[in-house]
Amino acid sequence: MTRSARSHPTADHRASTMKIAIIGTGYVGLVTGTCFAEVGHEVTCVDNDVRKVEMLRAGGIPIYEPGLEELVKQNVAAGRLRFTASTAEGVEQSQVIFIAVPTPPLPDGGVDLSFIEKVAREVAAAMTDYKIIVDKSTVPVKTGEKVAETIRRYCKAKVEFDVVSNPEFLREGFAVEDLMKPDRVVVGVAGERPVAAMKEIYTPFKAPIIVTDISSAELIKHAANSFLALKISYINAISVICEASGANVQEVANGIGMDARIGRRFLDASLGFGGSCFPKDLSAFIRIAEQLGYDFRLLKEVQRINADQMERFVKKITDTLWVLKDKTLGVLGLAFKQNTDDVRMSPAIDLCQRLLKEGAKLRVHDPQAMEKAKALLPTDGQVTYVADMNAVADGCDALVVATEWPEFKRVDLERAKRGLTHPILFDGRNLFDPAEMARLGFIYKSIGR
Ligand code: UGA
Repeated sequence: MTRSARSHPTADHRASTMKIAIIGTGYVGLVTGTCFAEVGHEVTCVDNDVRKVEMLRAGGIPIYEPGLEELVKQNVAAGRLRFTASTAEGVEQSQVIFIAVPTPPLPDGGVDLSFIEKVAREVAAAMTDYKIIVDKSTVPVKTGEKVAETIRRYCKAKVEFDVVSNPEFLREGFAVEDLMKPDRVVVGVAGERPVAAMKEIYTPFKAPIIVTDISSAELIKHAANSFLALKISYINAISVICEASGANVQEVANGIGMDARIGRRFLDASLGFGGSCFPKDLSAFIRIAEQLGYDFRLLKEVQRINADQMERFVKKITDTLWVLKDKTLGVLGLAFKQNTDDVRMSPAIDLCQRLLKEGAKLRVHDPQAMEKAKALLPTDGQVTYVADMNAVADGCDALVVATEWPEFKRVDLERAKRGLTHPILFDGRNLFDPAEMARLGFIYKSIGR
């Protein structure tokens, strides 16, 4: 267990017990269900993927998330956490049902809500008494109304229910920590009735609980994620000016970040943000705004800056190395960020694909994401997966840092220097100190410094 996991609320805080079902055991569902169990609630996690349910029952975890495996084991052993493939079983045993299924992007930037709709129908069909149905998946504003309408239509027993919007703010790689110690809990309701139960669920987490209307709760999620993405694009835009003027983007980020109104977090210039949330949520928010009659040009610019950032990084590589065909590049990082094996919309994977397209061969390493990356990168022998990060640079023409794993800061640079045909390092995450790299004799290109 991580240090932060250890300091979570545990047994002594298990004052209340709610019976909860979580439909969907992806990142959000599994971590939420486990943390609910950890504070004492009785949780049934439902997933229609029978193999996944069997894996979880056998003690396996389908994702890499620090602290999660141990927490799942403990809570299963304590009898507070169970897994089933039956939605009906989950609904029957619970007062509150959380929907945590995927809401994947559509080609037009909108969101595919078909999983949510299907679960709403299944829950409705299984309801025989009053239930609270909570949407935890990230959805466009107004989805709560649709869920309520669907449940009303498909509930044969005609029992009462409430729909609640309760967006999640957990970051992958820090999900347990974020869930156990949230900054705030947002609860969107249409009336008073479900509020007490929601408060009972969240009281052990000792965070401010904001009770609001459903549309505002749904908007809080999209507004929060797009603001964070905006913050990253802002510092990335500043990084361009830093490069042109000889300033240092980290110094600028530190300087503005100490203003409490701005804050230092999410001001790390990079080769761009990725993952299953920011890119998708930005597109979805722009799309829903358009449907509501607003052209969200600010967020379109956030997307453009993010795309440019990757272009600029690739150009830095080709400007330095000229022709990439038949050259070998070492790439540190495949996950979309540190502490995760998630490669969905990973800038690192995007970068690898662009370098391969230029004809380069790659030697790649990631502490957790190599297996998942294999499904996305070509299998024609152009990519070699290297188990030891210190061996990645061996025989390469340059080394590239693509993901901000903290351990990459400890890569053996002397060995890298010996292994490279010429000591060149492109750092897409500003992990190293430019002065130190110059001292070591590297041609070192990072972001905005
Ligand atoms: C994000 C939000 O941070 C969570 O609050 C939210 O709950 C989640 O989306 C979601 O909607 O489910 P996540 O996508 O897991 O979390 O990861 P982040 O830590 O936000 O990082 C996203 C991307 O931004 C990564 O590619 C990361 O490398 C990049 N990033 C982050 C930067 O380039 N610079 C920064 O300063 C911070």
